Amino acid sequence: MGLNQKQQEEFDSILKEYLEHPDVQRMKDYCAHGKISVLEHSLNVAATAYLLDQRFHVGSDRKDLLVGALLHDFYLYDWHDARLSLNIFQMHGYTHPGSACENAKRIFGINEVQQEVIRCHMWPLTLRSVPRHREAVLVCIADKICALKETVFRW
Ligand SMILES: [Fe+2]
Ligand SMILES: [Fe+2]
Repeated sequence: MGLNQKQQEEFDSILKEYLEHPDVQRMKDYCAHGKISVLEHSLNVAATAYLLDQRFHVGSDRKDLLVGALLHDFYLYDWHDARLSLNIFQMHGYTHPGSACENAKRIFGINEVQQEVIRCHMWPLTLRSVPRHREAVLVCIADKICALKETVFRW
């Protein structure tokens, strides 16, 4: 499953300014699953969400979808780091959408839909953060597809 050339051009043009930011580049330094960095994982999620949107004619706002997907795990710490408190390690699944959203708001001033995409991507784990916009639903699904591929199939 990959983007064709036209899709790739749109994908790159929307995300270019975000990918050039040094804090986004820092996501390369943190590991998401197996050998996959948080940046690779986030790009996989963005591409998967984009393809689901096109395949099922969901009609998302492309920028909200791709920016939200790219920044959905923008929490900027290594949750495998043994120096983190046990509390942070245990709570990472619940708390990292909030941390990622705060970072993305502070650095990029993201809009409400993009905030929802980030805050709700772990649903149903985060019970009360239910994705409502189509962009948030797609990223929530794409994140689970990618996490599964990256851990089980070492994609
Ligand atoms: Fe996440
Ligand atoms: Fe993720």
